[in-house]
Amino acid sequence: IIDRALAEIKNADLAVLEDIKTRYLGKNGVLTQILKSLLQYSIEDKRIIGLETNGAKDIIVSEIEKRKKSLKKVLLDEKMHKEKLDYSPSFYFPFSKGSFHPVVQTIKNISSVFKLLGFSIVEGPEIETDWYNFEALNIPESHPSRDAQDTFYIEGMKNLLRTHTSPVQIHVMEKQNPPVKVIVPGRVYRNEASDASHSSTFHQIEGFEVDENISFVDLKAVLINFIHQFFGSELGVRFRPSHFQFTEPSAEVDIQCFFCNCGGCRICKNSGWIEVLGCGMVHPDVLKTVNYDSEKYTGYAFGMGVERITMLKYGIDDIRLLYENDLRFLKQF
Ligand code: PHE
Repeated sequence: IIDRALAEIKNADLAVLEDIKTRYLGKNGVLTQILKSLLQYSIEDKRIIGLETNGAKDIIVSEIEKRKKSLKKVLLDEKMHKEKLDYSPSFYFPFSKGSFHPVVQTIKNISSVFKLLGFSIVEGPEIETDWYNFEALNIPESHPSRDAQDTFYIEGMKNLLRTHTSPVQIHVMEKQNPPVKVIVPGRVYRNEASDASHSSTFHQIEGFEVDENISFVDLKAVLINFIHQFFGSELGVRFRPSHFQFTEPSAEVDIQCFFCNCGGCRICKNSGWIEVLGCGMVHPDVLKTVNYDSEKYTGYAFGMGVERITMLKYGIDDIRLLYENDLRFLKQF
């Protein structure tokens, strides 16, 4: 029986192996039949036949397993050979390098101009308390400008996503005594619907200097210098009176429209001027809040929207283009 089984096993495939198993070891298999017939034999014969049969069973089982294993290995090898991974490149050299997003490029360009003007760069947290974002900047709870900055509150009313980079003024002045001269690029958030010129997430660059004898002239000099370096040296600049709670006096800065030159286009709304930033002299109350001697020190501050400036610089007419990450758009910068 063993010889016959082994001969069959030798050339069997997986299906035949199953068949052999059934025929020899199954419920009605040859060896099972023998074991079932043991009843009719004497105790001594039972022992001998039983031993022989179980021995045969063991041999057949192990030979079947061996054959199975080697069959499986052959199949696997075949499969591995057929499905060999193709490591050859499916793209062509030279492939294009990544590049900075236009908003990041603008932040870098603006920062490098201000670095030359003696400013250092700092950053602050995007999650703020009500105190840093509003109170310390002289914006009391009931003040309407809080509505204008539609705020994303988190964890009740205590924490919020900063609506501007101005709270970093407070952080810096808390940590450092005058003179301070820093710019602060960063992301800010406002709870408002997005359209071609608004986004609930955007970027600002804050700048401020506090020292002895700082006047509005210093503010004008720094901003005009920046605008001429960034937008063009011939450009007209005008300071228009405005209002911010944390600066006094306050102004908004316009640049001559370089899209039309004659006051006749959509971008400047036919006025010939484009607003680029807000600024003013740091309010004495703000200086007092951070325990600066407001008799001894004065300062100026300004803040600009990075997306807005990027759009002006490159003539982009929809802010949403800056967030879609469409490579056809991004590759132009
Ligand atoms: N924080 C102001 C805003 O977001 C801009 C600003 C900054 C104005 C600093 C004056 C001084 O609109």
